[in-house]
Amino acid sequence: MSGLKDTLSGLLANFDKGQLVGIDIGLSSVKMAMMSKYKKTYKLESYAAVDLSEAAIIEDEIQKPDEIIDAISRAFTQIKSKQRICCIGVDGPNTMTKRMQVSDGTAEEVEDNVLWESEQYIPFGVEDSEIDYFVIRDIKDQDVKDVLVVAARNDISEKLISYTKEAGLIPKVVDLKSIAISNVFEQAYPDRLDELSENGTIIVDFGAQTTTVIVYKNNGPVLTREIPYGGVLITEEIQRQMGLSYEEAEDLKKSGDENGNLPEEIMGIIDDKVVSLMEELRKILNFYIAAGSSEQARFCFATGGGALLPGIVETLSELVGVEVEYLNPFETIEFNQKNFSEDEISYIASSGVVAMGLGLRKV
Ligand SMILES: Nc1ncnc2c1ncn2[C@@H]1O[C@H](COP(=O)(O)OP(=O)(O)OP(=O)(O)O)[C@@H](O)[C@H]1O
Ligand SMILES: [Mg+2]
Repeated sequence: MSGLKDTLSGLLANFDKGQLVGIDIGLSSVKMAMMSKYKKTYKLESYAAVDLSEAAIIEDEIQKPDEIIDAISRAFTQIKSKQRICCIGVDGPNTMTKRMQVSDGTAEEVEDNVLWESEQYIPFGVEDSEIDYFVIRDIKDQDVKDVLVVAARNDISEKLISYTKEAGLIPKVVDLKSIAISNVFEQAYPDRLDELSENGTIIVDFGAQTTTVIVYKNNGPVLTREIPYGGVLITEEIQRQMGLSYEEAEDLKKSGDENGNLPEEIMGIIDDKVVSLMEELRKILNFYIAAGSSEQARFCFATGGGALLPGIVETLSELVGVEVEYLNPFETIEFNQKNFSEDEISYIASSGVVAMGLGLRKV
């Protein structure tokens, strides 16, 4: 989605690489990825994640713009990028994707058809939104085009654009985070993609505040949904039940006690919250997980920091009825060996997918 169109093309004069810096402003941290491409292979050159405080973002609203701007600017210093042109990710209730088939025709006719058809699906006002679409495939015998429409309300993009500019970067493209995940998925598994795409693949991103679900089929996402439910709920419950600060609760959840063990109380809290989240996932995925359904997805991948919660992948696997794999971008995407330790790479593999996907974008 090229949300900003080419209003900034004059700024490209000093730009020689083509690859945009990917910026994922998540609830728990601002993540930034700089990728490069040589022939057909992408490489992660550098990456940074700057943690945000507990109340920097609440329910999709940025409460502390200065903290976000500062985090973007610190992450940018850390990735040591010479070029400042970036792609920002958006998500939340004021964004949407819709896979649809429209009558074929000239490019202009297809665009008209897409806009006309999309209107009914956009719950937040077409006139205040940027709408874009990709043709995923031509279905020649039916004379239709299979397209993916993406839309985002202008005000959410504008806010992030302005923070990013204040941090000294040059935003050029706004893209949906779910599309970024789907792009990494395609890059990561080129040899398996036909099979994954034909049989249907569920991808779940377990974030701090949002769980994003994508069903990928017939060469692109057929469904993307966000559930406002994530790791923070577990942290807050640990905080409440055990009388700890937010940071202490977060630490305990991620690293366990001094011996690295998770106290039973915490296991209980995690299990409860995971069960509730799975119920939400079941509602969304019903059609794709029902045994015997012709649409049943045969593969499932998990990503996001929350995918590291003990037991969550196993519980997801019971729900979807197929084995769940961790989405590993480094299956195919390379990384600059000088810049990363093994631990860093395994951490980025889980929480850096969105930033990397945004960094795959070129101008
Ligand atoms: N080892 C771990 N065990 C359990 N939970 C973890 C672990 N590491 C990270 N998390 C949790 O993952 C979440 C952060 O993941 P991630 O970075 O993917 O979220 P985010 O992108 O900031 O959030 P969102 O996508 O909702 O805006 C936090 O809730 C954090 O507590
Ligand atoms: Mg996230």
